[in-house]
Amino acid sequence: MDSQVRYLNLPQIPEYLLGDIDSLSTKHHASDRVFLTYRWTDAHNTELVEWCNDNISPGLKWGLQVIDGDLSLHIDTPTKTKISYIFDTGGDNVITEFYQDYSSNILIDSIKILPNRWHILNVSKPHLVTGIEPGRVRISLTGRIF
Ligand SMILES: [Fe+2]
Repeated sequence: MDSQVRYLNLPQIPEYLLGDIDSLSTKHHASDRVFLTYRWTDAHNTELVEWCNDNISPGLKWGLQVIDGDLSLHIDTPTKTKISYIFDTGGDNVITEFYQDYSSNILIDSIKILPNRWHILNVSKPHLVTGIEPGRVRISLTGRIF
């Protein structure tokens, strides 16, 4: 295995900023929806973005990801590397898998990413998310690095 995810020792996001997070799972704005099971929004989280700019890094493009079903193999074009922090995993056994390329079926990394831990991901490698439980929503904050 060739690790495509690395945890970083950065401060946890304080509780008082999480008030709006739960409501995001029930808000479905069609305009936010990028794929069938994937939404990205920066519309509901001004305070959170300010905290990230002050405590993690300024200059990143911050947004919330709301995933309400498994994600098939994809790359995050144009993003190559991003930093993320999961608030709700969407299930106890949600796995992110990375593959060498689209055609070879060679698995290069498989990881159950822990909640409330900052990590960086190589999203230029084809990856998928599997194991999201019915009725559950995976919610994370993410910032584009490259
Ligand atoms: Fe992705």
